[in-house]
Amino acid sequence: MKYEVPARVRESAATPIRDLDRYREAAAQAVHDPDGFWLDVTRARVAWSKEPTEGLVGGFDTIKRGPLSWFGDGELNVTVSCLDRHLASRGDKVAILWEGDEPGDVRKITYRELHAEVCKAANALTELGLKRGERAIIYMGMVPEAAIAMLACARIGAVHSVVFGGFSAEALRDRIRDCGAEIVITQDVGLRGSKHIPLKRTTDEALEGSPSVKKVLVYKRSDVEVPWNEGRDVWWHDAVGGASAEHEPHAFEAEHPLFVLYTSGSTGRPKGVVHTSGGYLTYTSYTHATVFDLREDDVYACVADVGWITGHSYIVYGPLANGATTLMFESIPTYPDAGRYWDMVERHKITIFYTAPTAIRALAAQGDAHVDKRDLSSLRVLGTVGEPINPEAWEWYYDVVGKGRCNIVDTWWQTETGGIAISPIAPATPTAPGSATLPMPGIQPSLRTPEGAVIRGPGQGLLCIDHPWPGQARTVWGDHDRFVATYFSTIEGAYFTGDGCRRDADGYHWITGRVDDVLNVSGHRMGTAEFEAAIVSVDSVAEAAVVGYPHDLKGQGVYAYVVAQEGETVDLTELNQACRSQIGAHAKLDKIQVVPGLPKTRSGKVMRRILRKIAEGRGDELGDTSTLADPGVVDVIREGALV
Ligand code: WT7
Repeated sequence: MKYEVPARVRESAATPIRDLDRYREAAAQAVHDPDGFWLDVTRARVAWSKEPTEGLVGGFDTIKRGPLSWFGDGELNVTVSCLDRHLASRGDKVAILWEGDEPGDVRKITYRELHAEVCKAANALTELGLKRGERAIIYMGMVPEAAIAMLACARIGAVHSVVFGGFSAEALRDRIRDCGAEIVITQDVGLRGSKHIPLKRTTDEALEGSPSVKKVLVYKRSDVEVPWNEGRDVWWHDAVGGASAEHEPHAFEAEHPLFVLYTSGSTGRPKGVVHTSGGYLTYTSYTHATVFDLREDDVYACVADVGWITGHSYIVYGPLANGATTLMFESIPTYPDAGRYWDMVERHKITIFYTAPTAIRALAAQGDAHVDKRDLSSLRVLGTVGEPINPEAWEWYYDVVGKGRCNIVDTWWQTETGGIAISPIAPATPTAPGSATLPMPGIQPSLRTPEGAVIRGPGQGLLCIDHPWPGQARTVWGDHDRFVATYFSTIEGAYFTGDGCRRDADGYHWITGRVDDVLNVSGHRMGTAEFEAAIVSVDSVAEAAVVGYPHDLKGQGVYAYVVAQEGETVDLTELNQACRSQIGAHAKLDKIQVVPGLPKTRSGKVMRRILRKIAEGRGDELGDTSTLADPGVVDVIREGALV
């Protein structure tokens, strides 16, 4: 069943892609002449100091030899596009609309004020010794200063790496070490649902044994006392507060790295995905304006966290490049009650609202009363991101929140794609509950068999992208071989996303979820290998295997099979403590089954397929298990399964 675009969404569109014919024209042009298409886009959208004449150099066929480049002869300072160029036309427009933990605790920061703050922070960081190309870790909650810190790094050509405030000291330390950060920018405590998140204390713990870090810049959010390391720690209000608001932006080459963002894969430790300047900004600006059909008076609210790619691309860089009013939300959707989002929509007259399916499911479960008592008539576009959305949740979002007057954009993308890759375009694309619909112009998806053969027409397979686009990740920090091995070795000549996908007769895409060992729990991406490493670090554990299973609210739950050391008993709370301290508070094992052994092939490989089936409650559909080293173990696991 298709939903036509409501008339009020279609009318007065700001994007030139106002119907499917225009969409097809743009998509065809981007296929026939990618360089021409993207050069036109970037010249229209980005303030270059030196305009590029070059499009793509290199490609997926040459990726083994080194990163590809877009707009390689151009030069820019990303913050000029996000700030300086808006001063004349939008100086008094609200750039960041901040809603704090307590409802109604609001800060409105205009483009003029944001520009001044970023200049001050850029001067302060320079004063603290941070130089072009060096790395700064940003470990903060959702305060405007987090965005100011990101932009200040960009202003001076330093590379930021934002670490989500839920990560533990160990996870933070790994990231600091991997990128060799010079400075950590943090705050005394974060505030979420009236709880304190001890960001400074966790930073101190992470810095034991991280010699590269010389300075810690601390934003004061609260009145609590925090431990202080004289000589190393500096208050934000001293360093930034006392700095000059004048800062001459330097222009950097298009491929200068803008940020590193760590993300989980199917093996090993998280990878530092590297995004660069000109292409990333072009792509986030274009997709933000196009997908949401951004209009000058919009109040745009993406309630993600800056610790994830959604926050980078669609709270900070895309919206600010487009001169939008972008909301930053410090709290959680259920504080003080499950009506918090709708309360904000009413008070701020939000027109575009972007969230995750897991939040929609959790709020739908609380009933309609919270929504119905608010005036949500300002809304025009509703977005979702992060995981497949089930049709029931989609329909609730459409009917109860949108009252049938909004279009829903189910945006499929990844940390690695930099921006939205498959999605409806608000005024143009009829939607279907659960489908991300059509690729953005310039994105050439293909469905493949495991052998790499292209599936044409309707069908299902591995989701790949066949041609480069400006917003894509360029490499893995310090390990280009790992970049190539992870994304370009499964399918020769194409980028492999790690997702499965079905395409229907209309060419609409239906993402079926990850086909690798990556879990997506409440929209948080985690590797099974990270969980397993944490579990086996517990002394009483001999072996562990972790798989995902369908979970009504979280999308996926985490199911751990654990084998005890000979003669030992496993204390289950210890396992969750290990995950919490090695990964973070969001890494929780939902089900733990102690088993006598894991199903393995004769060569010793754990048969995860079997464990996944049992966790899903489909233990009777295992098929042939006769090739296992010890088929009997499967029966024991199946009998004790927690389903
Ligand atoms: C993975 C990427 C993109 C920002 C947030 C997550 C899943 C993402 C959708 C969607 C179905 C989706 C995929 C993807 N995913 N959006 N609209 N429909 N699945 O970024 O942490 O890099 O995770 O999230 O499985 O591979 P990420």
